[in-house]
Parts: sequence; structure tokens; C-alpha cells
Amino acid sequence: MTQMPEDSQIDSKTKADRPSIIKLTNISFSYPGSKNKVLDCLNLNIRTGDRIGMMAPNGSGKTTLLHTIMGLCKPEAGVIEVLGNTMETEKDFTSIRSRVGLLFQDSDDQLFCPTVLDDVAFGPLNLGYSPQQAIDISRKILKNLGIEEFEESVTHRLSGGQKRLVALAAVLAMSPGILLLDEPTAGLDTAVKQKLINILNNLDITYFVISHEFDFLNAVTDNVYSMDKGKILTDDEIHVHHHEHIHKHGKHPHIHK
Ligand SMILES: Nc1ncnc2c1ncn2[C@@H]1O[C@H](COP(=O)(O)OP(=O)(O)O)[C@@H](O)[C@H]1O
Ligand SMILES: [Mg+2]
Repeated sequence: MTQMPEDSQIDSKTKADRPSIIKLTNISFSYPGSKNKVLDCLNLNIRTGDRIGMMAPNGSGKTTLLHTIMGLCKPEAGVIEVLGNTMETEKDFTSIRSRVGLLFQDSDDQLFCPTVLDDVAFGPLNLGYSPQQAIDISRKILKNLGIEEFEESVTHRLSGGQKRLVALAAVLAMSPGILLLDEPTAGLDTAVKQKLINILNNLDITYFVISHEFDFLNAVTDNVYSMDKGKILTDDEIHVHHHEHIHKHGKHPHIHK
């Protein structure tokens, strides 16, 4: 049985008219001391309203891609445009970091304050809100995510799933124009995963989400891309699908090339 992801509701002409939020052109990147091009002449265009999934094997460069968009990895070639502006200097990237919300693959990279409320309020305080405003914004988001009871909790003592939601709250507290989510369901139980699906489907925000879980991506995105040899494969080039297998591991979602 074959089940294809639903096509985007928006026809291709309308899609082409929507402004680009993130545009990568011919981006190449290798880690220092390595000859392996993790990103190799990579192109990607994320437009307003896109809900794009990304499913690709471990080590294919997904996290590196998000870090490059944020200016945390510096490409050796290519152009990064965010909201129509070319990113060149550290200052350029600093100015967009509140507009582009990255949920790190490891929540411990995101959360560094003593309590949950401090962590969530950190972003709004940095944006110039008063302490009371930052607290009000944070409480509202914690409530929307259904985790207001953790407000006074010591962040590093929370479970992995709870930390994930707090990290998401910290990102959303900045009111970003786009979310980049790096394996948000890792370590989440079924109930919290369902909660995340509901949250994403109710957010009026553009996002790009990396996940190994087909069902999750199918529930929250309109397109699923992949990565291979340092390049993006769009859904014109791949077909991510469920089907029956006779071989080992066939029960798990995966990609055939
Ligand atoms: N900090 C780093 N230094 C050197 N190599 C790295 C570093 N981070 C990742 N890599 C390498 O880059 C490749 C892509 O990694 P990554 O972007 O984390 O892939 P993915 O997120 O798809 O699993 C892998 O071969 C990985 O070993
Ligand atoms: Mg990764």
C-alpha cells in the first residue's frame, strides 16, 4: 500500500509569489581540518507559509545546514539571504537571530538559566522588553504549551521531553518569523509528541523541521525534503512513503533512492 504525503494546498504560481524568508544559493561547507564537503553547492528556498519537513540519514548534514543558516557554521562559498538581506558579517547574523528561531538538536545547548521562567524570559529581555513584560510573555507561552506548572522548576532537572518543550517556549518567546526545528520529537513520549503536533498545526508560522519520524512529518508538514551528498533533494526528486517490506527494518519509515 502506498500513501503519498499530501501536496501543498497552495498552487505553484501562488507559491512562487510568496516572499522568500531563507534562501541559500550554492552553499559549500566543510568542518575545519576536513576535506569532506558536508554542504556541497547546496540550494534551498524557504518561503513565507512553507511547512517543510527534512528526513535524511544521520551524518548527512542536516544540523550543519541549520547552523549555517544561523551563522554558526561559516560557508566557504555561496550566498545566504534571510528576509531578503545577504548575510555576511557576524553583525548581520546577530540581527536576524531573534527573527529565526532555532530549536537545537540538544536542548542542553539551548537552556542555560537556573529556572524555566528565566530561560524563557531571557529572549524577550534581550529584545528590550521590561522584566515584567518578559515574565508576562513567558507565562503566556508556557501556558499555551501547557507547561506553566514548571515555571519555577530547575531546568536541568527536567526530563528530556520537558526540556524540549521549555526550549521550544524559549524560542517562541522571541516571536520569530520562522522556526527551524532540529529533531524536536527526539526523546518525546507519544502524548508529548501529539501535543507538539497540535502546537505546530496551530501556529501561524513558517517552519522547517528535521525528523526521522515519517508520521510526525506527515502530520505537521506539507512537503518533505531530503539531503544527499551535501545537497537538498526536494519532493519533486524523492517520494517519502509508507509501504510494506519483506526485508529487515522495513517497518520503519525510510527513504529509497
Ligand atoms: N563540529 C564538528 N566538527 C567536525 N565534523 C563535524 C562536526 N559536526 C558534525 N560533523 C560531521 O559533519 C557531518 C554532518 O553532521 P551533521 O550536520 O550533524 O549531520 P546530521 O544532523 O544530518 O546527522 C558528519 O559527518 C559529522 O561527523
Ligand atoms: Mg543532526
